Formats: sequence, C-alpha cells, structure tokens
Amino acid sequence: MFLVTGASGGIGRRVVRLLREKDAKVRAFVRLTARYGELESRGADIFIGDLRELHDIHKACQGVQYIISTHGSASDALALDYRANIELIDQAKALEVEHFVFISVLGSDRGYEDAPVFKAKWAVERYLEASGLNYTILRPTGLASNLVPLAERFRDTGIYLLIGDSKNRTSIISTDDLARMAVDSVDIAGARNQILPVGGPSILIREDIPKIFGRIFNKEPIVINPPLLAVDGLRGALGLFNPEAQKALGTFRTLLANEFFCKTEEIVRLEQIFQFKLETLESFLRRYVAV
Ligand SMILES: NC(=O)c1ccc[n+]([C@@H]2O[C@H](COP(=O)([O-])OP(=O)(O)OC[C@H]3O[C@@H](n4cnc5c(N)ncnc54)[C@H](OP(=O)(O)O)[C@@H]3O)[C@@H](O)[C@H]2O)c1
Repeated sequence: MFLVTGASGGIGRRVVRLLREKDAKVRAFVRLTARYGELESRGADIFIGDLRELHDIHKACQGVQYIISTHGSASDALALDYRANIELIDQAKALEVEHFVFISVLGSDRGYEDAPVFKAKWAVERYLEASGLNYTILRPTGLASNLVPLAERFRDTGIYLLIGDSKNRTSIISTDDLARMAVDSVDIAGARNQILPVGGPSILIREDIPKIFGRIFNKEPIVINPPLLAVDGLRGALGLFNPEAQKALGTFRTLLANEFFCKTEEIVRLEQIFQFKLETLESFLRRYVAV
C-alpha cells in the first residue's frame, strides 16, 4: 500500500494515477474540501484528514509500505512543509516503511534565510537522510502544470506578467515526468538514497516562456515586466497588518529573485537513472492547453 500526501495536488494526483495504472494499492490523503472524485474513480482509497493533525497522520500511515510526500503548504510552512513531514518520517520509521519519497525543491540547500518553505524542505531532507529509511529526495525546479492557468490567460489576453529579471534561467519540469520519477523511485536501485535535482531537458531564460506561449497560440506576447521592487513594496505594506503573510511572501520573492535550473549533467543523470527522455515545457503545454 502506498500513502500519497497532497493527492489532490498537481504532482499528487498524477502520482495516484500512475500507481493505479500499475494496479498498486493507494491511500490518497486528501482534505474534505479537495476535489478527489477522480482519485476515487481510479480506485484509490480516500483518506480524509488534515496534515496539521498528528492523529490523522498516524491513522493514515497504518499498514503502508511506501510513502510519497507531495503535499504543499500555501502559507503554513512550519505546520505542513516541516512538521507534517517530520511526523510522516517518524511514523515511517516506527512502522518500518520500505521507502519514503519526498518532493523537496531545487535550492533547498542554498540557505535562503527569507524563505520558510526552502528552510523547511532543507530540515526535512536532513531528517530523512538520517532516519535510516530508504529514501529518494527529488528537488524540482518550477512545475509545468503551474503554467497552464497562465497559458490560458495568455490565450485570452495575449498578456504575460513577468516580475523581476527576465534573463534569469529556469528549467521547468513536466509535472508528469516528475510524478513518474516519484513512483519509479521505489523500484529503481539508482534512485535509492539519492538527492536528485529535477529539471526539464533545456535551460530556458524566463522571457522564453511568453515566446513559447506565443508559438502555441500564434500570438505576439505583450510582456508586462514590473521590477522585483514591486513585490518588496507589496510585502512591506502587507507586513503592517499581516506579518505572517509577509513572511510567507518571502518564499515567493526568493523564487522570483533567483535562478532555478539544472545543469546538463544533472539532466543526463536523471535520464540515465529513470530511463526515459524528459519532456519539454512546450510539449507539456501543447498537451494540456486547448488552442
Ligand atoms: N509548484 C512548484 O513549482 C513547485 C516547485 C518545486 C517544488 N514544489 C513542491 O511540490 C509539492 C507539490 O506541489 P504542487 O504544485 O503539486 O502543489 P499543489 O498543487 O498546490 O498541491 C498541494 C497539495 O497539498 C495539499 N494540502 C495542503 N494543505 C494541506 C493540509 N493541511 N492537509 C492535507 N493536505 C494539504 C493540497 O490539498 P487541497 O487540494 O485540499 O488544497 C494539495 O493536494 C510541494 O511540496 C511543493 O513545495 C512545487
């Protein structure tokens, strides 16, 4: 039995799909408010709970052999990115789970002080490494599925909002490829006890993204490019009445202010380990967005 957290999310729902295609038993951890009908119809056991509740985590872990942690946190990195994963790892140890797959983030090891999600991921990685469990830590760059709503907005308006340096490099990963790696990690010896940076097959600069949209929709992009200072201004104002939201925006700012891409040798290594060719962002979007 696999336990998948974040099963209603961009990565998690794909992980569940792939596991069910292999006829594996899956327990999908979802919130009551989530859209989980598809997971249910694919034959996953639906476990309704909240990852902020330790009791729910304990119950969800009973009888599982594998855990794939894909959940995100919105604004509560301490409770969800950190505490829930530590608890999942403790349960995995106690129940002698065979393999733990953790979706981290590229750059978790860079010491970004102002980014709670990155700090939580780094701490969880260290805890998992020291746990004695079999593990695979995947550190993805940006997910292609996040760009689908932006592409749809572009299709309707021709507008692309690019905050900060348009020359920053990125290597967006196909969310389907990432889900496949998460699932295959439990079987492939080369992925065992590894920390793997995960990016798409080519290094893009951020201004390539509206160009890709333009090709897909046959439309000249109108790029609106406010400076990063605009986010800083917003954060400053937010801090006056909501300091927690101001802190959470630190992760967003870190994502905008830095480069997140994989080196060519890292991509070659990924393709060697997992034995498939990574998909480009353009190919992913052409599959998901109606032209
Ligand atoms: N998005 C990116 O570009 C990116 C890049 C690098 C790494 N990552 C990492 O990849 C992982 C997944 O990202 P994603 O984009 O697939 O996230 P997502 O689509 O936002 O999904 C997040 C999932 O976490 C669940 N969740 C949130 N709070 C929860 C709670 N209290 N209890 C139970 N479940 C809860 C959500 O459930 P609901 O459906 O109920 O909201 C959803 O299923 C995250 O760990 C993220 O840090 C993402």
